[in-house]
Amino acid sequence: MAEETTAEATVETESASKEWKPTLLAYLCNWCSYAGANLAGASRLEYDAAIRIIRVPCSGRVDPLMVYKAFERGADGVLVSGCHIGDCHYAEGNYACQGRMVITRSLLKAIGIEDKRFRQTWISASEGTIFQDVVNEMSAELRELGPFHLEKSENE
Ligand code: FES
Repeated sequence: MAEETTAEATVETESASKEWKPTLLAYLCNWCSYAGANLAGASRLEYDAAIRIIRVPCSGRVDPLMVYKAFERGADGVLVSGCHIGDCHYAEGNYACQGRMVITRSLLKAIGIEDKRFRQTWISASEGTIFQDVVNEMSAELRELGPFHLEKSENE
């Protein structure tokens, strides 16, 4: 009996220490925003550990379904970031991204996902501090919002 009490206490202690932490999934273009994240790391700038980075060749590669899937698979927030307008290494990829992300924002709103859970930014390879600010701001907002739960229809 004493062993059971000890085991229960251990589980309780573990659950108490497993406080919720947000997951911020970030699609970063290889040439600018990913390099900006690298610079932040190399410069030892502290940013929230909520971020999980997926490197994409260009922000123009990201579509609304990729953002939705991230939420469906447990992200609490999604960030899409690429090169500044005019700096895309594939000339017009970030224009495509800009248009798609406007549509994405409307779709997310239509299905009831809070606006603050999604952000689209331009961060260059030299903007490590901006990357740090964006990650920290967004992570703080996600902590305020709390965990995200996608409402599933009864047919799923
Ligand atoms: Fe960075 Fe296209 S290569 S947005």
